[in-house]
Amino acid sequence: MMYTVIIPAAGQGRRMGCGHNKVFLEVDGIPVIRRTVEVFQAHTACSAIYLAAKEDEIGQLTTLLHDFPKVRGIIAGGSERQYSIYNVLKVIPKTDIVMVHDGARPFISHETLDALYESALNNRAAIAAVPAKDTVKVVVDGQVSSTPERSTLWLTQTPQAFTYDVLLTAYQRAEADGFLGTDDASLVERTGVIVHVAQGSYDNIKLTTPEDLYFAAALLKKRGI
Ligand code: CTP
Ligand code: MG
Repeated sequence: MMYTVIIPAAGQGRRMGCGHNKVFLEVDGIPVIRRTVEVFQAHTACSAIYLAAKEDEIGQLTTLLHDFPKVRGIIAGGSERQYSIYNVLKVIPKTDIVMVHDGARPFISHETLDALYESALNNRAAIAAVPAKDTVKVVVDGQVSSTPERSTLWLTQTPQAFTYDVLLTAYQRAEADGFLGTDDASLVERTGVIVHVAQGSYDNIKLTTPEDLYFAAALLKKRGI
């Protein structure tokens, strides 16, 4: 058994403020999206990689990723991350497990991929997440309305992994209901499927704002690459 990964890379990168799509930013001389794709290219259980790209960046991405043989398709994304992923999910060949992983998370490890893949095979739905370190407050109009028990709070990351049928059904229902979620699991949860959690890593950051580039440099230094 193998899995297919969908990598959304069709965002604007507004919060990074670098004037272009952040997945093309070079981190220590290598574009972020090449770093991300490389991890899946090298992961044995991954059989195919599909990306969502902005229509006018498909050519640039095709050139940039030409030497990764597992890249099978680069498909036009949409105005929201969820629409980008659905555009890809609708056209990929049926498979056992589909993972979704942000193009802007280049530090995903094979250990996390292994744990997630195994959990998805056993449980149909699994996400990588890490325990919240800070106390989280629910704030309404500048006032604290409650403090959820910290031990129950996990910060979700990607990858998120599902059987093909579970994910496709979830996306179809979200479309039918006009539901827009902030991650893939939230679409699956509303179909009644139980989502399991695999321990992620605090290293698996999403490059979102300029400060994240300092963390990225530190992580590369730690790894000695
Ligand atoms: N993404 C996408 N299609 C969109 C929006 C986002 O494929 N319409 C992708 C991004 O390219 C990124 C991932 O989803 O790899 C996570 O999204 P995010 O970190 O929010 O990236 P951007 O949307 O590009 O950044 P911002 O929200 O700051 O504009
Ligand atoms: Mg965004």
